[in-house]
Amino acid sequence: MKINHNIQLQDNKLKHFLNIKSLPKSYIIDIINRAEEFHKGGSLPKYLDKVVASLFFEPSTRTKTTFELASKKISSDFINIDIANSSTLKGESILDMIKTIEAMSCQMFVVRHSVPGTAHYIAESVSDKISVINAGDGSNEHPTQAMLDMFTIKKHKGEFENLKVSIVGDILHSRVAKSLIYALNTLETKEINIVGPKKLIPDNYSDMNVNYFSNMNEGIKDSDVIIMLRLQKERMHDALISMDSYYVDYGLSRERLKHANNDVIVMHPGPINRGIEIESSVADGPNSVILNQVSYGISVRMAIMSILFDNN
Ligand code: NCD
Repeated sequence: MKINHNIQLQDNKLKHFLNIKSLPKSYIIDIINRAEEFHKGGSLPKYLDKVVASLFFEPSTRTKTTFELASKKISSDFINIDIANSSTLKGESILDMIKTIEAMSCQMFVVRHSVPGTAHYIAESVSDKISVINAGDGSNEHPTQAMLDMFTIKKHKGEFENLKVSIVGDILHSRVAKSLIYALNTLETKEINIVGPKKLIPDNYSDMNVNYFSNMNEGIKDSDVIIMLRLQKERMHDALISMDSYYVDYGLSRERLKHANNDVIVMHPGPINRGIEIESSVADGPNSVILNQVSYGISVRMAIMSILFDNN
């Protein structure tokens, strides 16, 4: 599917929220600032006449739930389309399904699908009253996750220009990693390291303005932020990796964390695999901000949804 990265902006306003690639810095800053207002407990807008439909064709706990909570906090209705029991299983195309839900007067779709570009395709096909948010399209992007990750870094580190950020794990299959790298580059992060076995690193990494390390201790040395990723077994077509050797080479243990700065923050988009990519004592330890990320996700999604409602 050919992905149109430019449809999210119309007349210099965010119409949809689909990708971090091509999203200018000022839009990222606006979202972080608005999310900060909501997080501080500022007054909340009310979108009583708006209806949001969530369409998750892939499993999700935190993303879907925080979208629902975000929608409720800004007083918009939220409907969960039960995909497992939906009429797409009876042969209805995604577009026919979308048109049917559109006829129920929805103003926003939140879409997760395993095929890259699905949210973009839906955004190009719906009427202009509707905004589409990409909640993850295959191994392409996960832009709201990147926004909550930027919010987390801003909150705990204050800025980006002097930071060394290391992203560790399955970069190849991870949409989180792609969106993160775009966002960190747009925000002019000083140094971005990617760390993992060569077979989990995209061939074109040299175009991504990152440094690659196959050695974990070197890759996280003096880091201010470490972002751990899950092995995306569902996207690996062959058994590429042995879990035991992965933990030995790339698991984040307390011992290994000593290579990073003392005040390093450890992040993970979840779901976490304890004992595969991260030791429990690190996931639950003093440097971890993994659960903070989940709660910031609500304010960040409120900010994105409210900006789209205001623009439409
Ligand atoms: C991620 C996802 O689904 O892309 N999780 C999330 O949204 N919090 C990462 C993952 O599945 O590993």
